[in-house]
This record gives sequence, structure tokens and C-alpha cells, in this order.
Amino acid sequence: MIAIYPGSFDPITLGHLDIIERSNKLFDTVVVGVLCNPNKTPMFSVKKRMEQIHQSTQHLSNIKVDSFTGLTVEYAKLLNAGVLIRGLRVLSDFEKELQMAHTNKTLWEGIETIFLATNKEYSFLSSSIVKEIAKFGGNIDHFVPSNVAGDIYHYYNSDHQ
Ligand code: PNS
Repeated sequence: MIAIYPGSFDPITLGHLDIIERSNKLFDTVVVGVLCNPNKTPMFSVKKRMEQIHQSTQHLSNIKVDSFTGLTVEYAKLLNAGVLIRGLRVLSDFEKELQMAHTNKTLWEGIETIFLATNKEYSFLSSSIVKEIAKFGGNIDHFVPSNVAGDIYHYYNSDHQ
């Protein structure tokens, strides 16, 4: 069965990577789908995020990295994928995630959302927190794959701010 792990991944964290690694054991193929959202100004382009994910998942087989626009369920139909994977970190994630799962199920009966409890080591971690730490000069080496840490340090040491 094909499963999609959709998200912004701006950028991918070790929490995301943990979910990808565990999903990889559960499904034949896991497609990491990077949402191209014209309403947001991301730190990294979709192309760069896909490259970062690709590099971070080289040790895994049956992982595909892709991007999509619009509704996740339409993308799932396109790929013939019956499952969406989402990580749950803390209780406060649950409300938004349940709302998304119900919305997607209402839009397309053929989709199931499977939640994986995030590894407790990463339960506090988010892409936003990583960016904030790096912005103020903190060390992010334990929070993101090394290639991504390099990209973030470079971002804040260049003219992008
Ligand atoms: O990493 P994120 O930002 O928490 O991921 C959220 C994402 C991309 C899974 C969600 O925003 C999404 O599915 N967006 C696509 C639009 C859509 O399908 N909306 C209806 C379901 S809420």
C-alpha cells in the first residue's frame, strides 16, 4: 500500500525523519509530499526542501519525495494512495490533526489517516522552533539532519533575513 506523509517540511527535522523511518517499515511505499503553499513565505523553496528530504532519507528504500499543490486528498487519489501519515507530538496537536483527518475523510471516503506518536525525544520539536533557535544563534545540530543544519546556518549568515 502507498502512504503519503504530507507536510510543509520547512525544513525537515529529526522528528519528521523518525516518522518517515517508522512509516517505511509499515508501508510498501511512503511518499513524502511537500506542500507547495502560495500563501506562505517559506525559509526554503519547495525544490530545496525536497532536496533536503531526499538527502536525509538516502539510507531508506521505498521512500519517494514529491511536491503537490491543492488538496491533499486529490493528491492521494492521483497517486492511488489510501493512507495519510501524520505525527502526533503532544495533546495540543490532536485537535488540529483530528479536524484535518475528519475533513479529508469527508472530502474522500477512500482515505485513512494514521497517526504515529512522535518519538518522545522529539516531542517538543517543530520546524518553527528550530528556525527560532538558529535565528538567535543557538545550536540546532541535535534537531535536524546535518545537511539541513548547514543550510539553516547558511541562511542566517546570508542576506536572507
Ligand atoms: O507540516 P504541516 O504544515 O503541519 O502540514 C499541513 C498539511 C500540509 C498536511 C495540511 O495543511 C494540508 O493537507 N494542506 C493541503 C490543503 C488541504 O488538503 N486542506 C484540507 C485538509 S485540512
